[in-house]
This record gives sequence, C-alpha cells and structure tokens, in this order.
Amino acid sequence: MSEHTPSPKKIRRIGVLTSGGDAPGMNAAIRSVVRTCIQYGVIPVGVHRGYNGLINSDVVELNARSVNGITSRGGTMLYTARCPEFVKPEGVQKAVNACRYLGIDGLITIGGDGTFRGARDLANAGINTVAIPGTIDNDIACTHYSIGFDTAANTAIDAIDKLADTMQSHERCSVVEVMGRGAGHLALYCGLACGAAAILIPEKAFDFEKDIIEKIREGHYNGKRHFLIIVAEGVGCTDEIAKRVREQTGIETRVSTLGHIQRGGSPSARDRVMASRMGHYAVMRLLEGKSNIVVCYRDAHLCDIPISEALDMHKDLDSYMYQVACDIAI
Ligand code: F6P
Repeated sequence: MSEHTPSPKKIRRIGVLTSGGDAPGMNAAIRSVVRTCIQYGVIPVGVHRGYNGLINSDVVELNARSVNGITSRGGTMLYTARCPEFVKPEGVQKAVNACRYLGIDGLITIGGDGTFRGARDLANAGINTVAIPGTIDNDIACTHYSIGFDTAANTAIDAIDKLADTMQSHERCSVVEVMGRGAGHLALYCGLACGAAAILIPEKAFDFEKDIIEKIREGHYNGKRHFLIIVAEGVGCTDEIAKRVREQTGIETRVSTLGHIQRGGSPSARDRVMASRMGHYAVMRLLEGKSNIVVCYRDAHLCDIPISEALDMHKDLDSYMYQVACDIAI
C-alpha cells in the first residue's frame, strides 16, 4: 500500500452538509461525496439545514440510491440554512458533541465564507473537516472556481438577453441588478457577456457623468438605440441610477432585479463536473487523514489549502476583464 492509498478503516462515517445560500451544483457535489464514500467502504450521512442539523442531530444515513438523479437538479437535497447559534462557542460545542454521538468522524461542508468559518471551528475542536466552495458570488479568493457561479451567470445572461429583445423594440435603457452581495464578479461576467454600456460594481468607483451618461449619449449619437446597464446588488441604488439616466438622457428606462432566479435551475455541465470532482477530492483527503482544509481549483487542477489561510485571503476583481468590458462598450 502506498503512503497515499486511502485507509477506509480510519474513518467510518462521513457527514455532508450544505450551508448558506444554495448554489446550482450542490446536489452533484453531495452525490459525489455519497458515492465516493460508498466506493471506499465509508458510511455517508446527510446533515439537514447546514450546521443547524448538526446541533440538532437532524441527520440521515444515505446510500447510493438516495442520490439517484439529483445531478440535474438545482438547490440542495439536504436543505440549507444560516445558523446564528453556530457562531457562538456553545453552538460549536453542541455540534462537536453531536458528531461524537452520531459517530461522524469526518465532515464535508459545502458553501461560502461563513460555511468555511464553521468548518474551521469544528476542526479546531477536533472534528475532521473539508470545505468545498459553493456560492454564486464567486467571491472565494483561494479558488478560481466556486460551485454555482457558472450556472448563475448563464441564467442571468439568458434573462438579460430576453430583456434586450424588448428594450431593443422600445428603444429603452435596461438597468439590471444582479446578485453578488458585496462582490461584483457575477455582474462583471454578465456585463461583458451581454455587451453592457456600463457595469457598476462595488469594487470600482464610477463617475456617473463620464462612465454612464456620456457613454449613452455617445452611443446614441453613433446610432445605438437601446442600452444595458448592469448594477451589482452591492452598489445598492439601482432605482436611483435608472431615474437619473432617464432624467439626464431622456431615454426611457426600466429596472429589472433578477434576484433569486439566479440561484435556481438545472446546473450547467461545468458546475456538474466540477462539483463531482470536488466532492470526490474532499472524501479522498479525509480518508488520507487531512483536515481543516478547503478544496480549491487553481490553474486547471484541484488542490487544497488550510481554511484559516483561505479566510485571510481577499479576492480582487479581474481588472483586465473589467478593462476589456469598458474598452468594447462603445
Ligand atoms: O451569497 C449568495 C447570495 O445569493 C448573494 O448574492 C445574495 O446577496 C444573498 O445570497 C441573498 O441571500 P438570501 O437568499 O438569504 O436572501
């Protein structure tokens, strides 16, 4: 047996949970975790509603058939939640006690930053944990890819294309708010993909006159008759932006907030495949005896880094992508 050959005897039961905002592809990750466990002689245990399920011992033993056909479904079959109780040391201790009582000796947590913090606290209290990045915001710095972003971007792009049809007919300006909490990655991606005249994101200060009004006037002068402005949720004044555009350009505006539509739907091929790979990778690391790590995708490879290191990192916006979007928005 090589040093890296998994030893199924060390870990007998692995729990899996999803926490925070759901993201398309979480089900594919759960399926992969469950089936990899079974493949290596480990019992997979589904934990309901994120860390709430651990604290309340709300768990279910899963088998290969429990996860039949879920790859194509959005959402998460394990439900998800944010758990304020888990932020306190007493909450973490309850979860540790529950893991011991339930015989869960490894835990895989799928979600964003908040989920990672929970996994780190549990690992520091003696429970082996591996975190998998899953958030449509794509704001996790240690990885180039997070489960759900690809599907969310495609869902938003599909909706924006539909809006463009009607905006073109009425010669209007569409002001579209996309999700992303404090991060503009999704907005930038959609704006570039849909040919937005302006992309407003929290990471980049903008000059209303120069970056929006002048661009629209110039476009109008050059024969453009409909416009798209993408506003990231974190900018926070979408209605006001639309009102000012109408007042200053005379062009009719309409606001569309895409909202939770972006979090649903059947996952893209990329999300299904990446989620399956990450789920497998996470189980294998637990079986090797690793803990307190995040699965990352960097330079076309899966790797892992300590959770505390991941939490200290800050994800910068892709400035070159932003430059490209600005340069070609004429
Ligand atoms: O983090 C994912 C996300 O969809 C953010 O883009 C958004 O701000 C937030 O979750 C919405 O959270 P909720 O579903 O609790 O309204």
